[in-house]
Amino acid sequence: MKAIVQDRYGSADVLELREVAEPTVGPRDVLVRVRAAGVDRGAWHLMAGEPYAVRLGTGLRAPRQPIRGGELAGVVQRVGAEVTGFVPGDEVFGSGSGTFAEYAAVREDRLAPKPAGLTFPEAAAVPVSGVTALQALRDQARLQPGQRVLVIGASGGVGSFAVQVAKAFGGHVTGVCSAGKVDAVRALGADEVIDYAQRDVTDGTQHFDVVLDIGGGRPLRGLRRALAPRGTLVVVGGEGGGRWLGMSRQLGAVLLSPFVRQRLRMLVSVVRTPDLVALTELIDRGTVRPLVDRTFPLAAAPDAVRALVAGTVTGKVVVTL
Ligand SMILES: NC(=O)c1ccc[n+]([C@@H]2O[C@H](COP(=O)([O-])OP(=O)(O)OC[C@H]3O[C@@H](n4cnc5c(N)ncnc54)[C@H](OP(=O)(O)O)[C@@H]3O)[C@@H](O)[C@H]2O)c1
Repeated sequence: MKAIVQDRYGSADVLELREVAEPTVGPRDVLVRVRAAGVDRGAWHLMAGEPYAVRLGTGLRAPRQPIRGGELAGVVQRVGAEVTGFVPGDEVFGSGSGTFAEYAAVREDRLAPKPAGLTFPEAAAVPVSGVTALQALRDQARLQPGQRVLVIGASGGVGSFAVQVAKAFGGHVTGVCSAGKVDAVRALGADEVIDYAQRDVTDGTQHFDVVLDIGGGRPLRGLRRALAPRGTLVVVGGEGGGRWLGMSRQLGAVLLSPFVRQRLRMLVSVVRTPDLVALTELIDRGTVRPLVDRTFPLAAAPDAVRALVAGTVTGKVVVTL
């Protein structure tokens, strides 16, 4: 099969389109004929091997799984002996490794039926970013109707879902992004949008019940200034957290939280079937719609990653097959 593979860590230049063997299908795996694969920041981290801590899990010198891509939408081709929930021909979406390829073997518990109203590229944009937004707002922030939510990094993969999920939960949403993406974030449903070059949202003049920190890598001190006295901060991510660990702000939040009135949380999201189904319900109701900026054919997957790194993407980019 054709796949986008890498033999060493580095920039998008290390990615190559090659002919490789089809993946082996374990007893609980589903072999999916990939129709579209979302490109999220995780694909970049695994490609670059940064922060270096990533390599402890993926291979010190080179990635053990050479095929990139972490989410997909497609059609079930074959199922492992213990799979009960899917049969060949089912249209599915979910998360697994090696999705920039014609076929990917994905664990059954990381898949769900594709939302009927979405195209394959739209569905492929959902799993990682959508589930991350859902888990940040529902599980970590425990967002309640009427609460004021600040989404820092509202125009990106996670943020474009976070704005919509927060609105669906009844939040009053303020999004933060760059000037060129303000209209797009407003169109997602944000009540207010702030251009981060024009105003510092952490100057202490406004206070939010929930702050989702997805972009910009602001120090904890500043993020806490934007938080109500008993508000909840969820550090989801943001580049520039250090080349070695990359999680200094996340760990700082967790360590400080027991000593202050504000709740300071971090998130390590995991895609599982029930949360894909929960997102499908929001999608079916019309309250959440993936924002797909552009699609790229499989051979141009390196350009999709370059676009993400360049910051020219609003929402998500998706590789199509
Ligand atoms: N914790 C987890 O489990 C988990 C899961 C998924 C992702 N993540 C992490 O979350 C982060 C975001 O992922 P993503 O896929 O959403 O990335 P993305 O699509 O690249 O989005 C990044 C967002 O950050 C914004 N941003 C950039 N500079 C900013 C600044 N100075 N101030 C405020 N916002 C700024 C961007 O806005 P503009 O484009 O308008 O500049 C964009 O909205 C990454 O670090 C990723 O690794 C964590």
